Amino acid sequence: MNPTPRDPDSATPTEVVAIDGPSGAGKSTVARLLAGELGFAYLDTGAMYRAVTWHFLQEGCAPGVCAGDADRGAERMRRALAGARLELRAGRVLLNGRDVTPHLRVREVESQVSAVSALPFVRIAMRDLQRAVAAQGPIVCEGRDMGSVVFPNARWKVYLDAAPGERARRRSHDFERQGRQVSTTDVLDEILVRDRLDSTRSDAPLRQAADALYVDTTGLTTEAVVGRLLDFVRNSSSDELRRAR
Ligand code: DC
Repeated sequence: MNPTPRDPDSATPTEVVAIDGPSGAGKSTVARLLAGELGFAYLDTGAMYRAVTWHFLQEGCAPGVCAGDADRGAERMRRALAGARLELRAGRVLLNGRDVTPHLRVREVESQVSAVSALPFVRIAMRDLQRAVAAQGPIVCEGRDMGSVVFPNARWKVYLDAAPGERARRRSHDFERQGRQVSTTDVLDEILVRDRLDSTRSDAPLRQAADALYVDTTGLTTEAVVGRLLDFVRNSSSDELRRAR
């Protein structure tokens, strides 16, 4: 008799608030504040993909650089990834001991990160690292595939969304705060391209988990969204949401 194959997802961490959604939906700010209120750890998984992208750029093997020789490019990226030790500490991202946080939002990273995050070998490495971090205790994790792929057994799943125009306005304000002048129209174009790439890739595309609470943040203050999520975490779980449907 064949033994029943063990479900690889059955032992994934459960004490997780898994927050997904498109860029500019307010995930990072909301997730950080929510984690603070709950006394949970916080994990920004987009920062992990950005750090890997930065590393590939430094090693001269990012997808846009190696596009002419896809096979050798993939091999070089695999090697570069194997030599990358990623650590997340108190809101900073360390790569082989070096703090790369200031580089994560530069334009070269912005333009390559969707292509890097579509690579299955990168996603597997990030998924395993994210699960290992979450196994250490209660945590708020935000990204694109938290509730759908990385933490299928998370007790709380949330999908944050907002109208594209509002997301573009929020991103432009972020850029202004960093001293960068980018028109809202350009930001909107970039957001729409990124939405398409992130939601049409074959591996772990951006999508709402069936048991996630959907929150449209258009026109809502950050405080209102955090309040809504605090209620959800304190009073219910995705399991109850699923049963209620
Ligand atoms: O949230 P962000 O803008 O920092 O994410 C950067 C990129 O990483 C974005 O293009 C989507 C990708 N990403 C992903 O594919 N999966 C995640 N869990 C988090 C981010």
